[in-house]
Amino acid sequence: MYICVFRALLFHTALQSRLLHGEYEFQDPKSEDEVVNITYIDKHGKKTPVRGKVGDNVLYLAHRYNVEMEGACEASLACTTCHVYVHHDYLDKLSEAEEKEEDLLDLAPFLKENSRLGCQITLTKDLEGMELQLPKITRNFYVDGHTPTPH
Ligand code: FES
Repeated sequence: MYICVFRALLFHTALQSRLLHGEYEFQDPKSEDEVVNITYIDKHGKKTPVRGKVGDNVLYLAHRYNVEMEGACEASLACTTCHVYVHHDYLDKLSEAEEKEEDLLDLAPFLKENSRLGCQITLTKDLEGMELQLPKITRNFYVDGHTPTPH
């Protein structure tokens, strides 16, 4: 009996951890009400329109659609490899950046006034139509050479 409860707990913990690392973003919207269309623009100007949904983290959503947003620290606010430029029309619609995000952004190459960390952006209906431009380069001072794979 105790072993079953322990196994159930382990399973639940494993499931939660998978959901925390992008599984949610790999699920399609369940209804049109939760759809949020955004567009990623890579460093060469190539646009990737994406049909996201409310609650998607734009880092993990980028991974789903093979957009080159690295995310070396896997959203733990310890790198700047998820640096993006947010279209000005949407800046005020984002939640305010935490101090730690601001501090990290200060270390990001090619910082602009519309810079944000993609892993800190969660889609809401207000962000319908948002464009996210990736910078020319990012700096990985978290773990050299480590590239996380989408889960
Ligand atoms: S992935 Fe490292 S801060 Fe966003």
